[in-house]
Amino acid sequence: MSIEIDLSGRNAIVTGAGAGIGSEIARWLARAGARVAVHDVRVEKASEVVRSISAEGGDAFAVIADARDDDSFVAAIDDTVRRFNGKLDIAVNNVGMYGEASPGPFMTLDGEHWRELVDQNLVVTALSAAAEARHMAATGGGVILNVSSGETTRPAPFMAAYGAAKAAINHLTQTMAVELGPQGIRVNAIAPGTTLTEKVRDVFDDEHFQALVAATPLQRPTEFDELGRLSVFLVSDLARCITGQLILADAGAFLSRNRPSNPSPRNSGGVS
Ligand SMILES: NC(=O)c1ccc[n+]([C@@H]2O[C@H](COP(=O)([O-])OP(=O)(O)OC[C@H]3O[C@@H](n4cnc5c(N)ncnc54)[C@H](O)[C@@H]3O)[C@@H](O)[C@H]2O)c1
Repeated sequence: MSIEIDLSGRNAIVTGAGAGIGSEIARWLARAGARVAVHDVRVEKASEVVRSISAEGGDAFAVIADARDDDSFVAAIDDTVRRFNGKLDIAVNNVGMYGEASPGPFMTLDGEHWRELVDQNLVVTALSAAAEARHMAATGGGVILNVSSGETTRPAPFMAAYGAAKAAINHLTQTMAVELGPQGIRVNAIAPGTTLTEKVRDVFDDEHFQALVAATPLQRPTEFDELGRLSVFLVSDLARCITGQLILADAGAFLSRNRPSNPSPRNSGGVS
């Protein structure tokens, strides 16, 4: 006996899907049969992901909007759903940012830094999720996944605003699950561990990355495809009883007793 996940006939949107984790989630949703709207602010990157999905026989199109512009971001989601003939089944809110590479100790963070990180993580997630939920509620339900971070389970120095903004997404996810459950909408969050994206390559030198990896019980980073496969499972009917959860895919990093401190802000910043 084998178990297959088939998302054929389901319409999905993934925000920030032109690179990194979002692009891989988009690819795996398409591999499972979903029609995928690949959202990003960068046209070339979103188009590249659409081309790679098409080359594998999947169905995808690009949606371009800057998540920092509330109105055009929400309008892009509304347009996408119109393109789906009004039915949105799956939404992954992946846009998020760490801010500058070395934000510094908590005592030194200014209002601009706090507002930027809360805006670019919590607010963008809340706005896209609300737009998606309005469409799902009008058509009998759907599934929403918010992308959080392992940082919310094991706080690290120099990451106060990023960690707090992502932790707020965990709470938002639970509130959404409570509010939207009666309308047939499930809402969960995933927490990636350290995943070797372009951004992570930029801010960590190899030595620090290897030290982070060595501190996890599985002694490995999180691979892109693992986040893609996890997302496919969580949005599928196999997970139909799961809502309001934060699912960690972090090689057990939340249990690490000997996690290395993030580099000093004078040298580099941290990502988790
Ligand atoms: N990489 C990690 O180790 C890690 C760990 C935990 C959580 N996360 C979270 O995963 C998510 C994806 O991270 P990533 O490392 O893949 O990032 P990334 O920088 O590799 O990719 C993010 C994508 O989002 C797009 N984007 C950024 N700002 C945008 C905006 N304002 N409007 C539209 N598109 C925008 C970018 O163009 C890019 O294509 C983020 O929410 C991040 O906080 C990452």
